[in-house]
Amino acid sequence: MSITIKDAADIEGMRVACRLASEVLDYIAPHIQPGITTAEIDRLGAECMAQQGTISATIGYQPPGYPAYPASLCTSVNNVVCHGIPNDKPLKKGDIVNVDVTVITKDGWYGDNSRMYLIGECSIAAKRLCAITFEAMWHGILQVKPGARLGDVGHAIQKFAEGHGFSIVREFCGHGIGKNFHEEPQVLHYGRPGTLEELKPGMVFTIEPMINAGRREIKEFGNDGWTIVTKDRSLSAQWEHTVLVTPTGYEVMTLSAGSPPLPSFVQATAT
Ligand code: MF3
Ligand code: CO
Ligand code: CO
Repeated sequence: MSITIKDAADIEGMRVACRLASEVLDYIAPHIQPGITTAEIDRLGAECMAQQGTISATIGYQPPGYPAYPASLCTSVNNVVCHGIPNDKPLKKGDIVNVDVTVITKDGWYGDNSRMYLIGECSIAAKRLCAITFEAMWHGILQVKPGARLGDVGHAIQKFAEGHGFSIVREFCGHGIGKNFHEEPQVLHYGRPGTLEELKPGMVFTIEPMINAGRREIKEFGNDGWTIVTKDRSLSAQWEHTVLVTPTGYEVMTLSAGSPPLPSFVQATAT
């Protein structure tokens, strides 16, 4: 399998899937308050997908060597890096949570995105980690244009995040996406400029850096086969967008009315 190039009709299908994936996060957002459980967030996500006529890509998802993923979305709290499974523990003031939603439309297109949510008042350190991770994702997105290389994307993210004293998780990466959840290429969130795959119009992939407040090492948590935590128990944050390479640059596909405002350094360069 090589990197698929999406044509105009494919891109229309992806736009719909990605907008709907973002709208699931919009739907959930006002409910994410102290006291809600991640299982309730999962239920709200499933309810929204049912209203949309989409289905969750994660429920029953079973890559080789993994058990079937049991929920409609992922909820990764505090030191959980990714793939947290919703449960009945209430979120409390000061927690940070990533909610990662991937939907499949009736036409078979996948849209994948995630955001961080702060539960009540959070520490300055937690707020800073979430903000820097959001900006790191956008520094990666800004590299996307025909002729640029995936190493440019990874490098931009790494330089920014490490420049703020944080570390980049290496074991998980962004991915091509389309009529499959995970396609080529792998999109590393670290790297060297001018290396790896050259970007071409019609490529679609996710950029989804996982950034730790402490060291970059991770480990599996418990025995559910999915949950990944930081080895040093430090906080971890992640944001994710699905991005199209256009003839002149990029189109962020997973945007909707509730998406957070773009960082000022992006607005300054937007055409
Ligand atoms: N949505 C995640 C990603 O960004 C994948 C989650 S797989 C799951 O690629 F099974 F854990 F849900
Ligand atoms: Co993804
Ligand atoms: Co995702």
